[in-house]
Amino acid sequence: MKIAIINGPNLNLLGKRETDIYGSQPFETYLEELKKKYPSISFTYFQSNIEGELVNEIQRVGFEVDGIIINPAGYTHTSVAIGDAIAAVKAKTVEVHISNVPAREDFRKLSHVSGKAVGSIFGLGLKGYELAIQYFLQ
Ligand code: DQA
Repeated sequence: MKIAIINGPNLNLLGKRETDIYGSQPFETYLEELKKKYPSISFTYFQSNIEGELVNEIQRVGFEVDGIIINPAGYTHTSVAIGDAIAAVKAKTVEVHISNVPAREDFRKLSHVSGKAVGSIFGLGLKGYELAIQYFLQ
């Protein structure tokens, strides 16, 4: 099984950034744990702070992988283009947010991605990515 994990802006700072909200683990070490725990899965990982690069990556992997797990971060709430890219590709997408977005500021309540994703997971920390993997494995 092939799974693409795509992270949006500022998620390169996980472990350093607002640790009270996002926790103290960098994504890279979490990804190593996932790779060890799920050796049968071939993972690709892409992070960018640039909207168009995220669209390009969704298009690049979207006809090759079995599933996409995306945390579009701040672009969740603004990017029609990322939502459109998810709708355009063949692979199913699960949207993940580390924090409980509906419990935060009002502007985070809008997602351009949820309606295009097969489902969304939020508020469960990094564990949300693993739960998305388990969805694709079932
Ligand atoms: C986030 C939530 C977004 O609202 C925020 O802009 C992020 C991270 C999350 O994982 O909780 O950067 O996607």
